[in-house]
Amino acid sequence: MPPSLQKISQSVESRSADEKYADVNWDELGFGVIPTEFMYIMKCSNGGEFSQGHLTPYRNIELSPSAGVLNYGQGLFEGLKAYRTEDDRFLLFRPEENALRMQMGAERMLMPSPSTQQFLDAVKQTVLANKRWIPPLGKGTLYVRPLLIGSGPVLGVAPAAEYTFLVFAAPVGIYHKGPAGLNLYVEDQLHRATPGGTGGVKSITNYSPAYLAQQQARAKGFSDVLFLDSVTGKYIEELTACNIFILKGNVLATPAVHGTILPGITRKSIIAIALDFGYQVEERVIPVEDLLEADEAFCTGTAVVVTPIGAATYQGKRVEYNTGKGTLFHKLRETLTGIQTGRLEDKKGWTMEIN
Ligand code: COI
Repeated sequence: MPPSLQKISQSVESRSADEKYADVNWDELGFGVIPTEFMYIMKCSNGGEFSQGHLTPYRNIELSPSAGVLNYGQGLFEGLKAYRTEDDRFLLFRPEENALRMQMGAERMLMPSPSTQQFLDAVKQTVLANKRWIPPLGKGTLYVRPLLIGSGPVLGVAPAAEYTFLVFAAPVGIYHKGPAGLNLYVEDQLHRATPGGTGGVKSITNYSPAYLAQQQARAKGFSDVLFLDSVTGKYIEELTACNIFILKGNVLATPAVHGTILPGITRKSIIAIALDFGYQVEERVIPVEDLLEADEAFCTGTAVVVTPIGAATYQGKRVEYNTGKGTLFHKLRETLTGIQTGRLEDKKGWTMEIN
């Protein structure tokens, strides 16, 4: 091991031996950048493969002003969480799904991607090096952010010749603070994704185009925006950063993933849990009218987990949903987080213990 890496690894070991937690106010966690101590970095150039990744102190990275990611947005990200169990073990939730989704996105964005094993090793190393930032059970989780970016210089519109895979982490709490139940605005002018575009992969370019709609909605007192399909404007798609579900009777429905909707890992897990509970689950196109007639609505994602929707407004018509005790979202969230934190038996093999 090179001397610099030896030093990092000694520092990781000596700190973790005598300090269980970093100096963080765990009661104040939101969803923001709280720097941790280490990040992971790995490069690949000239059509080669990723190799020689390593941990390094968390720091700013240096990029050429003509880096592909800065000029043409050639980049993908992932999001997953590390959980502390009651007996102080550390769990990841379905991390290989994130690795596969990154590989799928990389194909669409014409980028090389780390193998599943490389992705998992990088995530594990990053989490363990920063384990003092994994919040106490009940206070939050360690959000892990893998990034794949075109770091090589380009000027003509073309893929970069060098790529950087990077993993950093930050302790997080609740994504949407505020009253229980989102107050949604159904956006009928601006769109998030188009057929044939990148809405179905986790491209970094999918998010900032939603800022304007989000800001306009927030200015009117809404908490988030629900986008409609860009071809007909009739069907619901997803929020700025999560998938949506609606419940009517015993039928739980969510928009089918046909290229404009992100195949969420929480989405997929919630479908499986709801089926186990005996609900009928439909992945289909969902007219906005179905949203307005639903009994319950909620959104899912790694960051938002399962968050209830309290109300939705479409073209001036506002409807409210049940968010109280006995709701399905509540049962689903309890089961999902129970598995994620080791409180419930993981019969599906979704969690990965790391040590
Ligand atoms: C996640 O849930 O991990 C996301 O990707 C949402 C993020 C944009 C905050």
